[in-house]
Amino acid sequence: MDHFLYRNGILHAEDVPLPEIAAEVGTPFYCYSVATLTRHFRLFDEALAGTDHLVCYAVKANSNQAILKLMGDLGAGVDVVSGGEYRRARAAGIPGERVVFSGVGKTQDEMRLALEGGIRQFNVESEPEMAALNEVALSLGVVAPIAVRVNPDVDAQTHEKIATGKSENKFGIPIARAREVYARAATLTGLRVVGIDVHIGSQLTALEPFEAAYTKLGELARVLRADGHDIRRLDLGGGLGIPYDQRSNARPPLPVEYGHMIRRVLGDLGCEIEIEPGRLIAGNAGILVSRVIYVKEGEGRNFLILDAAMNDLVRPAMYAAHHDIVPLVQPAPETPETPFDIVGPVCETGDTFAKSRMMPPVGAGDLVAFRSAGAYGAVMASEYNTRPLVPEVLVSGDHVAVIRGRPSFDEIINRDTIPEWL
Ligand code: LLP
Repeated sequence: MDHFLYRNGILHAEDVPLPEIAAEVGTPFYCYSVATLTRHFRLFDEALAGTDHLVCYAVKANSNQAILKLMGDLGAGVDVVSGGEYRRARAAGIPGERVVFSGVGKTQDEMRLALEGGIRQFNVESEPEMAALNEVALSLGVVAPIAVRVNPDVDAQTHEKIATGKSENKFGIPIARAREVYARAATLTGLRVVGIDVHIGSQLTALEPFEAAYTKLGELARVLRADGHDIRRLDLGGGLGIPYDQRSNARPPLPVEYGHMIRRVLGDLGCEIEIEPGRLIAGNAGILVSRVIYVKEGEGRNFLILDAAMNDLVRPAMYAAHHDIVPLVQPAPETPETPFDIVGPVCETGDTFAKSRMMPPVGAGDLVAFRSAGAYGAVMASEYNTRPLVPEVLVSGDHVAVIRGRPSFDEIINRDTIPEWL
């Protein structure tokens, strides 16, 4: 459920009519709803109530600091994957002891940053990384808390580009080698083992792959405890999918169902549970609003040419992802629909948001909204074709704030330097 609903025939963000924001900030723009973000965070938090747990919002999904501040105020921890995300989270007020650092390629500079600034745990993904972290910790005279990310070799049944838990993927260490790797960790005095970590992929629409992975993780926890390791924390990653297509009957599992499964499979271990959801918290809490520039009649197909493009929302071009696209003015019931190819102005055929999408009548100048664009939308945007990054707007009730403004062309152009010898 989200808070982008038609009222009196106009799409609103909570209590604010979206055309008013469009008139104020121009198009395209992203718009997020505080009530939806809050609700989604709480669904996870409540799903694990009664179990020692921390919901660590995956910053990569949407790293705007207003959103991080909101998450922090709600009591969330965060999962970061770069020094940049670490700095953002800390700047937004998230305490170091609530920051988990994941990622296969942490540099020693990034490790130093987090060890000096405060960190809950590093999710270590390889033996070379373990050695590097040990070195940095020893040089600073501190001990780095770690979980080793294991790769459980399960099929997440999701898009191949966002599956991470198969043995051929670059993530984690093979679960079969875990005992050996933990034994090595125990010999490194700059490290302290606190748990085990797993993350098998994103946009999962069934619980079975999670359950298969978590079952393996539980078995491993017992074995490692018997080996003498202090396994007190299990980080279960993110990945729970969201409904992107309102017209489809498919319904991904709810956080409460996910929480039940976690307790059933891992409850008796008495471990603290961490989860790292990103998409389910931010995805349906955001939309991208765009204006139709032209309606173009092609041969055998008609095009809606929008002012948003693949540089603003790359998911359709990159993963053939579906986003519902709806007019801001609600069509009357029974309005006939016709198919359109919905495209942006970028000079690539890949700049296509949807093919043969059934749409009510829409004309040049009309406003449309891409739904479910709050996660992996603004964060994956680029300035390709020298198109400025689009503004981000946050709504709470009738409050509206621009939480990132549109850069001017001067700002963009002045970022480059022409050497004087040229
Ligand atoms: N934890 C780790 C270690 C991750 O790698 C990810 C996502 C998450 C948590 C959060 O997963 P979520 O709950 O959001 O599914 N750009 C792609 C998604 C990439 C996800 C990468 N890792 C997309 O637009 O679909």
